[in-house]
Amino acid sequence: MSTIPTDRAERLFSGPIGAEYEMLKLICPAAAAISLRVGEFVASLPARPTRPLELFEIGCGTGITTQALLEARPDLAITAVDNEPTMLAQARGNLSRFVDQGRVRLVEADALSGLRELPTESVDVVASGYAVHNFLNGYRDRVLSEIFRVLRPGGLFVNGDRYGLDDDAEHTRLTQEEARHYFKAFSAIGRYDLLEQWIIHLFSDESADHLMRLGPALTKMRDIGFDPAEVHFRDGVNTLLTAAKPAA
Ligand SMILES: C[S@@+](CC[C@H](N)C(=O)[O-])C[C@H]1O[C@@H](n2cnc3c(N)ncnc32)[C@H](O)[C@@H]1O
Repeated sequence: MSTIPTDRAERLFSGPIGAEYEMLKLICPAAAAISLRVGEFVASLPARPTRPLELFEIGCGTGITTQALLEARPDLAITAVDNEPTMLAQARGNLSRFVDQGRVRLVEADALSGLRELPTESVDVVASGYAVHNFLNGYRDRVLSEIFRVLRPGGLFVNGDRYGLDDDAEHTRLTQEEARHYFKAFSAIGRYDLLEQWIIHLFSDESADHLMRLGPALTKMRDIGFDPAEVHFRDGVNTLLTAAKPAA
């Protein structure tokens, strides 16, 4: 597994996958369910008495997790970044009422560049849904360190994502099931073009320089200084976890 630090952000959603991202519901309904869990978790956090809760979202895509967050609580001010214009254009449409209300700012930037723009200890929550697993390992490590830097003491990273199983054989079995499900779902509607793209995407998720397994991911966050880093929900690879920056 490559752990070489890198600043390189990939663009894995620029083609047909991004253009018809709503197809995700067909092949991975668990991803949308995880977005709701991210919203519910953030809704349970204490309010700030004099100001909105300031949240930075990584990889907002078409706005599924962003909408879950905004609908979960009214006192949220979100800056959401994504480095794929096709996805952001859909988010602008899907979230237009929240953009008009000034509750969310959508920014075209990759996660690392977006975080680097933020002052140290300037946000309450960093949240993400199904985005961080797409990152190259070295890039992800840098993003995690930046998340730690930008969070206020007591702040929280809330991530609903695809975390690989630490048991290799079980992980492979689940991945094979996932591939089988893609074939069934896309064959049923005759979309072999999308089947090809999603299978290629799955190979990327599963490659040694991307695969985000749960155990090493928690260890990495603890090494950076997050405490606690803990899992709140896990069903196969679908996971909701939080990592807290200790209060001063
Ligand atoms: C699987 S989609 C998830 C989108 C959304 N969060 C959701 O809940 O549906 C992953 C998103 O992360 C974005 N992404 C991938 N790598 C990124 C990076 N390095 N910086 C910012 N966004 C990134 C992709 O463009 C894509 O929109």
